[in-house]
Amino acid sequence: MKHYFIIGALVVVCTFLIQAGLIGIGLLPVQASLQAVSIDQIMYVHVWLISFLFSLIIVILTYSLVVFRRKKGESGDGVYITGSNRLEIAWTLIPLVAVIILAYVGAGSLGVVRRIDPSALVVKVISAQWSWQFQYPDYGIVSTELILPVGQQIDLQMTSRDVIHGFWIPEFRVKQDLVPGRTTDLRITPTLIGNFKVRCSVLCGTKHSYMEGKVNVISKADFDAWVAQQQSIVITDPVVRGQLIVAQNGCDSCHTVDGTKGIGPTWARLYQSTVTLSDGTKVIADSAYLTSSIVDPNLQIVAGYSANRMPIFGDSLDAKAIADIVAYIESLK
Ligand code: CUA
Repeated sequence: MKHYFIIGALVVVCTFLIQAGLIGIGLLPVQASLQAVSIDQIMYVHVWLISFLFSLIIVILTYSLVVFRRKKGESGDGVYITGSNRLEIAWTLIPLVAVIILAYVGAGSLGVVRRIDPSALVVKVISAQWSWQFQYPDYGIVSTELILPVGQQIDLQMTSRDVIHGFWIPEFRVKQDLVPGRTTDLRITPTLIGNFKVRCSVLCGTKHSYMEGKVNVISKADFDAWVAQQQSIVITDPVVRGQLIVAQNGCDSCHTVDGTKGIGPTWARLYQSTVTLSDGTKVIADSAYLTSSIVDPNLQIVAGYSANRMPIFGDSLDAKAIADIVAYIESLK
């Protein structure tokens, strides 16, 4: 019985020391979101469990090696033990209960992390090899930096233009993949003003490790000022305006500007070129052709491409925006 007490006491002391050591070396980066709180709690529960299990094994092993070693003059074999029902029931039930408790705690945390705030600020995240773009549809802003107001839930609607990328800001803890052709979402409520970095967490090509974006969490007042400042920028050049509208509407996920074939025809050197349509007729890609192809893409289908792939932008864009896009395409001649 004496041995059990000594081992028990040593395990308790060892658990505390290892736990304190692991927490002391700073396992986690600074906590900067509401979602991080429950995730960190689970992490710390695991650190306690890891410390306990490690101590349990190491203390019993070391104690046995030292205390129960072969004494001088001893020559016989040790006691032959064939099994213990009590021990087997214990080491089945204890882990079972532990796993059920962890599942319960984990499900609770998932509920907190996924909790939807109806007043969340929607930010569209578009990833591409190897950059991030952030769109604020409520304000008509497109940015390469993620600017967020502190204390408000952000509803990130994420997609990819090419391969799978991963949106990861370690300080916010939560992480989500961006998949081409699909929109995934992530909820983040920043709680700390400061500068962070979004990193790509999925190996996505040769420049994967450089795929970083600036994240700036600022006060609500600063955010409102940033929005006003962004909206006040008046672009007088229709080509620049057109390029912005193209980015906002994701046209460039199907149409390239470098001559390579996309889901739709490339825009490089398209203006004033001769286009062969699917019915064999040839047309000149003048302003009228470009405009009509945006207003209703199904009227004239280019040979080698299929109808109904492109939205009818005459329904969603006004004439001025379409004229800006046409000016941009014309500039790519
Ligand atoms: Cu994108 Cu790695």
